[in-house]
Amino acid sequence: MRKSSSLTKIKEILLSTRNLLNDNAILDSDIESDLLISCALNISRSELHMNINSDISTSDQTKIQNLVNRRLHHEPLAYILGYREFFGNLFTVNESVLIPRPETECLVEEIIDYLRSKSIKNPIVLDVGCGSGIIGASVLQNIPNITLVSIDISHSAAKIANENLHKITKSDNFNVLICDLIEGVKLPVDLIAANLPYIPTKRIPKLQKEIVLHEPKIALDGGIEGIETICRLINQSTRILKPDGAIFLEIDPEQKYTLVNEITQAFPEHTIKVLPDLSGLDRIISVTKL
Ligand SMILES: C[S@@+](CC[C@H](N)C(=O)[O-])C[C@H]1O[C@@H](n2cnc3c(N)ncnc32)[C@H](O)[C@@H]1O
Repeated sequence: MRKSSSLTKIKEILLSTRNLLNDNAILDSDIESDLLISCALNISRSELHMNINSDISTSDQTKIQNLVNRRLHHEPLAYILGYREFFGNLFTVNESVLIPRPETECLVEEIIDYLRSKSIKNPIVLDVGCGSGIIGASVLQNIPNITLVSIDISHSAAKIANENLHKITKSDNFNVLICDLIEGVKLPVDLIAANLPYIPTKRIPKLQKEIVLHEPKIALDGGIEGIETICRLINQSTRILKPDGAIFLEIDPEQKYTLVNEITQAFPEHTIKVLPDLSGLDRIISVTKL
């Protein structure tokens, strides 16, 4: 970042940061500048704007420069701030977990609608590949009578999920398991939710630098076709899904035909629907008994 010793007021630093982010093709430079500077100064965004004419000390200028430099080196904003908003809550994130994506909110909405419509007594719900725990935490917060089991193969992701589940749900109705998919689950379950890695291995190096350099490969890489882990889950699910249980999956739109075919073979009695995300892309597969 340009040395800014002559810049002493918040408004001047804000403007220079916006320009710098813009020049480096970082989208949403206005919001990102606000958030980086308020994070460095440890104040809220509204406090930042209320104090726009205040002077900034040299040590605070250094803190701002450090955060802006990290962003210029393609570190995602969410990892710098240490949180990302999802379904109305702030989830702690770090480089052990995928940054929550808005399309996953559609998956959560579908699950909540389904559970409300069925009013099952104390349903057991799995969140497989839970990452930061967003799916399970959002469902448990809205449907408190579920028993949630959040699962991840990554120890460090499971730790973050546990932290977020405690913070957000304020409930004891959950467990976090570290295992390969649902190997460690013995009891029959009512609902399996999963946003597992679904990017074909070859496509990963072509993604945005923010993703390639910082997000965990284990959260992205779905094998040659991108569907390896999801297919393994579908096949394992036949062992533990109750006869009238349901599965909700987030997918890449290009995988829908292959996956619908796979699910039809594993669950021939179930109804399979492909549902769109907010951009109209086929992003969710629901597998339910009508
Ligand atoms: C695409 S990320 C999704 C994280 C979170 N569910 C979300 O929506 O933000 C996939 C997650 O699946 C986990 N994962 C990958 N392979 C797994 C496996 N075989 N068993 C359990 N978890 C796995 C990764 O560690 C990662 O946290």
